[in-house]
Amino acid sequence: MIYDFTYCNPTKIYFGKTALTHLPSELALYGKNILLIYGKNSIKKYGIYDQIISALHQTGKTVVELAGINSNPRYSQVLQGGQLVRENHTDLILAVGGGSVIDCAKGIAASAYYQGDAWQHYWVEQGPIVNPIVPVASVLTMTGTASEMNTGSVITHEEKKLKLGRVFPFPDMTPKFSILNPEFTFTVPHLQMVSGIADIFSHLMEQYFGGTDDCTSDYLLEGVMLSLINASRKAVKNPQDYEARSNIMWCATMGLNKILALSKQQDWEVHMIEHQLGAYTDCPHGIGLAIISPAYYRYIYQHGLPKFVRFAKNIWHIPADGLNDGQIALEGIACLQSFFKELGIPQHLRDIGATEDMLPEIARSTIEGGGYYHMKSDDILQVLKNCF
Ligand code: NZQ
Ligand code: ZN
Repeated sequence: MIYDFTYCNPTKIYFGKTALTHLPSELALYGKNILLIYGKNSIKKYGIYDQIISALHQTGKTVVELAGINSNPRYSQVLQGGQLVRENHTDLILAVGGGSVIDCAKGIAASAYYQGDAWQHYWVEQGPIVNPIVPVASVLTMTGTASEMNTGSVITHEEKKLKLGRVFPFPDMTPKFSILNPEFTFTVPHLQMVSGIADIFSHLMEQYFGGTDDCTSDYLLEGVMLSLINASRKAVKNPQDYEARSNIMWCATMGLNKILALSKQQDWEVHMIEHQLGAYTDCPHGIGLAIISPAYYRYIYQHGLPKFVRFAKNIWHIPADGLNDGQIALEGIACLQSFFKELGIPQHLRDIGATEDMLPEIARSTIEGGGYYHMKSDDILQVLKNCF
């Protein structure tokens, strides 16, 4: 059923090959001081930086840059950005990149004017917004997280070895506008592309595997999963396939702008485990998710059996003949794992920099929880061992 909800997501999306032409008119709505933030070198290498700078100059902006944001952004970079915001009286933070850059921008936006320990207040205690926040906007160059249309800010505190996600309140922290040109994603390296695809798939499953009622959101989630599988197979064969890349890009945004989560009981434990895996290994987020997901679902499927049977039948078209429900559910999980393998994603934690002695620490520091089954630290350790 559809339970009572309030939903307000005001991010203005410009989608398509000419989306960037809207940047000057959007910039004109904000004051003149812009903090431009981006990653290591991709936007310069592929010419996006020059296009952004030209729009900024055209609108007479004063630009301060924060470059070099890590994949899995660091809290030290949030602090660095906060200082730049205060020193330069920033009117708008323009993030150009993937989820890491946009998440970092939101972290800066929230914490620049916080008096005290922003890490403790906003990420550890998940406290309310108590200070002025700076508007954020984005130009997306790598697709997966939906950070371009949500309020998530996942930040790694290196010294504390913690990677914590914060979902800030809607609509305060939703980007004011986001520019999505699928052509910008053509140059994303294969591993990052499939990491993004696995991240989208995981977001859909984290929202799907929860609840036992008949809910419209589950049908919508299945539709996006089917589109994503179809488009991903084409994009892996031909990364310049605009139709496929545009579908993947929109699956990503829809996958976590929270519209599909409405009225849904959800899971999110795979993400909790991956975040701590990332804190220890710095692996690409989606790759970690793809390795953990099949092991996790094999561990919990009996607690939500009807939904896993539905997943196997509706997404992977497993025929029911001669199989019991448990077998059908396991076939569905096997298809999921084969799909990730087909995309060229590594299959074990040991392939992505994890070592056996890390596993107990990762399990101990992971936030416990889940959907159909409440995972405790011992359960998490077992799942990690199962996919090591
Ligand atoms: O640093 P550069 O040189 O720009 O290279 C980046 C980076 O190495 C490269 N890249 C981006 N656009 C490119 C490109 N390379 C070539 N051509 C382009 N057009 O891609 C690499 C990965 O970028 P990154 O932003 O790290 O990837 P992603 O978008 O997957 O973001 C991952 C981060 O988002 C968090 C993850 O935990 C992770 O920290 N998440 C954020 C969420 C949210 N805001 O709601 C939810 C997610 O579940 C996730 O946790
Ligand atoms: Zn994710």
